[in-house]
Amino acid sequence: MLTRPDVAIVGAGPVGLAIAWRCASRGLRVAVHDPAPGSGASQVAAGMLAPVAEAYFGEPELIGLLAESAARWPGFAAELSEASDQEFGYRTEGTLVVGLTGDDLAEARRLWSYQEGLGLPITPLRPSQLREREPALATRVRGGAVAPGDHQVDPRRLVAALRVAAGRAGATLVPGAVSRLSDVDAGVTVVAAGCGAAALTGLPVRPVKGQVLRLRAPGRGAPGFRHVLRGYADGESVYLVPRDSGEVVVGATVEERADTEVTAGAVLRLLRAAVDLVPELAEYDLVEAAAGLRPGTPDNAPILGPLPGRPGVLAATGHHRHGIVLTPVTADLVTDLIVTGQSAPLLAPFTPDRFTAEEERTWN
Ligand code: GLY
Repeated sequence: MLTRPDVAIVGAGPVGLAIAWRCASRGLRVAVHDPAPGSGASQVAAGMLAPVAEAYFGEPELIGLLAESAARWPGFAAELSEASDQEFGYRTEGTLVVGLTGDDLAEARRLWSYQEGLGLPITPLRPSQLREREPALATRVRGGAVAPGDHQVDPRRLVAALRVAAGRAGATLVPGAVSRLSDVDAGVTVVAAGCGAAALTGLPVRPVKGQVLRLRAPGRGAPGFRHVLRGYADGESVYLVPRDSGEVVVGATVEERADTEVTAGAVLRLLRAAVDLVPELAEYDLVEAAAGLRPGTPDNAPILGPLPGRPGVLAATGHHRHGIVLTPVTADLVTDLIVTGQSAPLLAPFTPDRFTAEEERTWN
């Protein structure tokens, strides 16, 4: 085991492991604390790398960070693949955003206009153009758009690859739970514990439940569509992520709840929306229904940087719906901060003091 590490990371999800890999590759002694690596939100996540299809009104700074991280993904994936000798389902066919009914399409079009106004790559397609790209789409689908830069990765395999890369770079996994930061002895401690960051730091990170299904194509062949599909179907929002293995991930609910029960109503709504968009999915096996907890924050953006009043403690949490796409930029910028002591301008909108300062204003 290590002498006193330069960096201790609490949480071995994609973000914590990627920081561990990057820091260890820069010559730092790194320990990662987690009793069950990869068992948090990433275990359930679909792995959409979707700076456009997942961009919403009123979040321009977050959209900028999503775009920056998505741009880093090709390099990150190539480096990780070389460092780990593993593949992790990184695919670049792009995402089709589709509307089932006229109402669904009207809602989607409003969002595309906003996204186009921000200069994001999204191009409307006629129904015939959509079905040329994906013949498996239902004939009822009224229209859609393509976001060619929105890709995907398999989060479970990503965690496995990051564990190998971090280990090969010299990081050590400490398989115990951390209940107080004062129990961790290191030069710098990074809290990358997802929802667990709230209890460790007092930061306003709240669980946001997501229920997700996994289907499998019959005969273990590949699914009958290649693009990630982001759909609006009779008012339901759904995404369908096809994997080479035959798996299709169908997600996800967004619930302000902290339990991880799977409910019949959610399964019904997700399956109905999925089959409305891609009828052949009715023939697939239903192999998994699970729920996970996204680490949400008051402004839906991550919390990245030094904790005020806690010297040597950094936060890398609160990634909410975007943990997988934001992994490369988070790892790069947090590692640079640790190595150089300089905070990149990109981090400025996301530092923890935006919340601690607010608390002071409220209470003084
Ligand atoms: N990024 C997809 C989700 O949070 O459901």
